[in-house]
This record gives sequence, C-alpha cells and structure tokens, in this order.
Amino acid sequence: MVTIDQELCIGCGICAKDCPGHAIVVKEGKAQVIHSCIQCGHCVAVCPVRAAAIPEYDMEDVEEYDPETFRLSPETFLHAVKFRRSIRNFKEKPLEKEKLERIIDAGRYTATAKNAQASTFVVVQEKLAEFKTIFWEELPSVLKTLQEVAPAYVRPFRLFYEKWKRNPQDDTFFFNAPCFLLTAAENPLDGGLAAANMENQAVAEGAGALYSGYLMRAVSASPRLREWLEIGDKPVACCMLLGYPAVSYRRTAPRKKADAIWK
Ligand SMILES: Cc1cc2nc3c(=O)[nH]c(=O)nc-3n(C[C@H](O)[C@H](O)[C@H](O)COP(=O)(O)O)c2cc1C
Repeated sequence: MVTIDQELCIGCGICAKDCPGHAIVVKEGKAQVIHSCIQCGHCVAVCPVRAAAIPEYDMEDVEEYDPETFRLSPETFLHAVKFRRSIRNFKEKPLEKEKLERIIDAGRYTATAKNAQASTFVVVQEKLAEFKTIFWEELPSVLKTLQEVAPAYVRPFRLFYEKWKRNPQDDTFFFNAPCFLLTAAENPLDGGLAAANMENQAVAEGAGALYSGYLMRAVSASPRLREWLEIGDKPVACCMLLGYPAVSYRRTAPRKKADAIWK
C-alpha cells in the first residue's frame, strides 16, 4: 500500500490528480489513500514534500530529479537510436560489474503492463564458459525438440553446430561475446521493452549488444538450460549478447521508409 505522511502532507492534491487508479483523495486538507493500487509510484515521484511512500519498496532507492543529469536532447536521443548497431564482433574484455548493474537498472526501471515488474534478468558472465559447454552438449536434444515445434530452425542450427565442431571459435550462437543476458517475462512486451532499454544503456556504457532469436529458441527448447538459468517456467522474452564492440561503424545503416500512417 501507498502511505502518506500526514505530518508532511500539505494537501496540494497533486498526487490525487496524477494517480491513475484514483486511489488518493484529499480530505480535510490531507491526502488519503482510499484503496489499493498498482503501486506505480507516481504519487512518490510527484509529491513536492516527499510525503508519499511505498514501504514495500526500498525508498532509499528513490532519486531526486536533477535537471543537470537529465539533459538528453531529442537530437542526441535519435542519434543514439540511429547509430546503435547489432554487434557480432566482440573484444574479449568482460563488462565491469557497475556497468552491468546500470544495464539491469535500465531494465528494471522500464514500464511494465499493470506495473507488474515481473521480468527476471539473468546475467551470465563469470560462468559463461560453463553455460556454453552445457549449451553445446544440449544442442542435439534441442534439435530433436525443434523438429517438432519449430522445424525451420533445425537446418541453420545443424549448420552452426557443424561449424562450431570444426572450429569452436566459429560460433554463430555466441559470437565469442563475453556476456550473455537473458530476460524472462510472462508478458513478452514487458521483456522486450526492458531489453531495448538495456541495449541502449549498454551502448551508453561504450558496449554493445546483439539480440539473439536463435539463442532464445535454443534456450526455450532445453529444460536443462532453463534449469541452469533458474528461470523456471517463465517464458524467455529476450536473449542478448553483450560486450565491447571490436568493430566501429562510420555511418548509419540505411532503412526502409517508415510504414507510418498519418491522419
Ligand atoms: C528479436 C530479434 C532477434 C534477432 N536475432 C538475431 C540472431 O539470432 N542472430 C543474429 O545474428 N542477429 C539477430 N538479430 C539482429 C538483426 O539481424 C539486426 O537487428 C538487423 O539485421 C539490423 O541490424 P542492426 O541491429 O545493426 O540495425 C535479431 C534482432 C532482433 C530484433
């Protein structure tokens, strides 16, 4: 439940006005919570005197808005979107822990339907060699499963497997990236939106990412890999490879015209 510190509250009603669930009213000059809500935290974010709180969350985590830090111009943002590239050539260097933590923060602060915040993020860097060993051991049984559920993947996966067996450096699943990041989510859009923000944060950290639909297919089809990743029955929303790019791009890649309808 949201709480309102009655001593601090000045009864301005801004929280009540911005509450999407109409869970707050102002009575006798003070904001009052009248029913439970999705805990979106708008009341906490909007209150001029820090009177609103959600005790279930770590309130120490709440940051004050700082216009100096938040100075992302529309041009800079679009530039970042345009110059982001899928990375398939990585340096060996692992990602620093604090960078990975900020990348996960970009995921956990992303909007989720009904504010469910139910995505699980699995970062595999220290134990990536172990994960890859199990992955390649599992691939033959993944192929059997895919034959039933998604036969179109069988031929390319077999080719990747044969290439990797000839030369383990020739790895079309992991591209020798130093880090693997999986997002599991009941709502695929929640997971996908978080993944997009995490990729952009990775770019801002000087790193880069590759979304891997192939890894997503393979992991989803392997109970052993899912167990190792500790995701239970949660659907895999996104698999990403992360690391520092060993390639520099000099210009944007061309794109089709926007299929946009203006009315
Ligand atoms: C959902 C999704 C799955 C993808 N899966 C793979 C993949 O399995 N292997 C791969 O090499 N690239 C994969 N990609 C990368 C796309 O091929 C890439 O985004 C596209 O070619 C455009 O290049 P860019 O990302 O550099 O703009 C995937 C991208 C998305 C969005």
